[in-house]
Amino acid sequence: MADVRLTDIRKRFGALDIIKGVDLSIKTGEFVVFVGPSGCGKSTLLRMIAGLEDITSGELTIGDTVMNDVDPSKRGIAMVFQSYALYPHMTVRENMGFALKFAGMNRDEIDRRVNDAARILELGPLMDRKPKALSGGQRQRVAIGRAIVRNPDVFLFDEPLSNLDAELRVHMRVEIAKLHKALKSTIIYVTHDQVEAMTLADKIVVLRSGIVEQVGRPLDLYDDPDNTFVAGFIGSPRMNFLKANVTSVEAGTVTVALASQPQTKLSFKLTSTAVKPGDAVSLGVRPEHFLDAGQGDADLVLEVDVAEHLGNTSYVYANVSADERIIIEHEGFRTADSSDRLTVGLSAGRAFLFDADGRRIR
Ligand SMILES: Nc1ncnc2c1ncn2[C@@H]1O[C@H](COP(=O)(O)OP(=O)(O)O)[C@@H](O)[C@H]1O
Ligand SMILES: [Mg+2]
Repeated sequence: MADVRLTDIRKRFGALDIIKGVDLSIKTGEFVVFVGPSGCGKSTLLRMIAGLEDITSGELTIGDTVMNDVDPSKRGIAMVFQSYALYPHMTVRENMGFALKFAGMNRDEIDRRVNDAARILELGPLMDRKPKALSGGQRQRVAIGRAIVRNPDVFLFDEPLSNLDAELRVHMRVEIAKLHKALKSTIIYVTHDQVEAMTLADKIVVLRSGIVEQVGRPLDLYDDPDNTFVAGFIGSPRMNFLKANVTSVEAGTVTVALASQPQTKLSFKLTSTAVKPGDAVSLGVRPEHFLDAGQGDADLVLEVDVAEHLGNTSYVYANVSADERIIIEHEGFRTADSSDRLTVGLSAGRAFLFDADGRRIR
């Protein structure tokens, strides 16, 4: 068993609070992804779990053991970095077996583990090559192989695909998903790429400035975000936020009108009693959730700024008013063009309300 538990974990560098109290519970076999913008503390948090960075306060347990002061080599973890850091003078086989040899493991056991990992990662034909004779994706596979042979309880990945080109990234993403299915091990994976997070994770942890904004299954974060940060971060292109005002609150129904087009009104069934008429709110609508005119609960009139037609879909960048711009993704808008006036439908069931501080109103 290798459940990982973080309790009020904090990190301070000098006078700077970088990780500001993280509580998290990761179950054995779970694939957990830390996602957030650059500088939010993802690597720092991962490095604290690995033991490469001291924990300023709080408690880290893996299995039943408190790991705060345990040497990295004794934590049952293996880490894969963005830079593969392979030894250039060693072959693939030697690179993969090196840590085991260094730890004094016997030759037969090293061979068995290296061959197993090579089979899982389909590295067989490359075992006698040196790193310089490998492509970026192959090097990354060797770096992963080096972690697999250690048979860790927990794999830690820090942006392992960031150095690869777009096509290879997609390929390796699928490989890592397959690897998790095959090994069934606990994986903690850091990325700034929300698509990687959505596709790989059992559970996503969204971080901002050293704080956990929301934890949940990928589609739960997409369907039910807690705040504008998570709503804007998960999903691509990002969610649109339109200024609106509450016009009435009665018997659990909250009606809002767009600030720029007050005739456009939507009514939400909400349990919240925190809003009252006149309150400023923001209406979140994902680009893919606009409907044809007349098909929703209300219509919205736009002026097209730029339209991009990709074949399978079109992206329309449009002005709702002089200072509000939105993106619409719609496969039916193939003929939309700059300066066109366009009417789209909005549906309350496919929109979200947020208060002035960006918190979801439910
Ligand atoms: N050794 C350090 N000393 C001081 N500040 C650091 C150190 N390491 C990281 N930081 C700061 O901590 C913040 C989080 O960094 P990091 O965990 O690398 O972010 P991420 O991986 O999410 O991009 C950044 O502002 C970074 O500058
Ligand atoms: Mg990082």
